[in-house]
Amino acid sequence: MNILTYSYTRDDAKLRELYAAERPTWPVLEPIWFHAYPTLVGLEDDGSLVGYTSYSMNLTENGHLIIWGKDTVVAPAHRGKGHAGAFLDARLSIGRQLGAIMFAGTTRINNVPMRKLLVSRNAVEQGPVPDAYPHDTPTAGVLYTIGL
Ligand SMILES: CC(C)(COP(=O)(O)OP(=O)(O)OC[C@H]1O[C@@H](n2cnc3c(N)ncnc32)[C@H](O)[C@@H]1OP(=O)(O)O)[C@@H](O)C(=O)NCCC(=O)NCCS
Repeated sequence: MNILTYSYTRDDAKLRELYAAERPTWPVLEPIWFHAYPTLVGLEDDGSLVGYTSYSMNLTENGHLIIWGKDTVVAPAHRGKGHAGAFLDARLSIGRQLGAIMFAGTTRINNVPMRKLLVSRNAVEQGPVPDAYPHDTPTAGVLYTIGL
């Protein structure tokens, strides 16, 4: 998989198609979404879409920089091959390059692969986030942080 920064012309329609298929109960994303949340796109050599991941750079009230994971989707045909791990590692690398002190992210409480992946990257479980996923069942998330 080649990881590239999002391009509207090349990626937008394909990402929205994947999102609609994998997030059927979630709202349609605003047109600006993939710019508002910087997005990395995974493509095969032939240009076919493997998946995407998004993040957000944020300052805490004390002025410390944190990178928040916003979403990751790997297309069903490409799962179980470490691509979500590669997307997480790419975001951790961006956080380190920019001097962030921490990666933070939530995942649904029953998302076994994502929770396993976060733990494999030494993520620390910070506790439940009620109603983090109002369009899913269950709605509860879990917050994890990874020190950078
Ligand atoms: C969750 C998701 C991103 C995982 O993508 P993936 O590329 O298949 O994940 P990886 O191959 O990198 O595997 C991640 C970890 O989960 C494990 N895993 C993969 N598939 C699994 C499964 N079906 N059951 C249990 N564990 C699984 C892997 O062994 C790996 O753990 P490790 O790092 O300890 O080896 C993908 O299933 C997906 O897009 N799901 C729908 C959207 C979603 O839930 N996104 C997450 C938002 S927080």
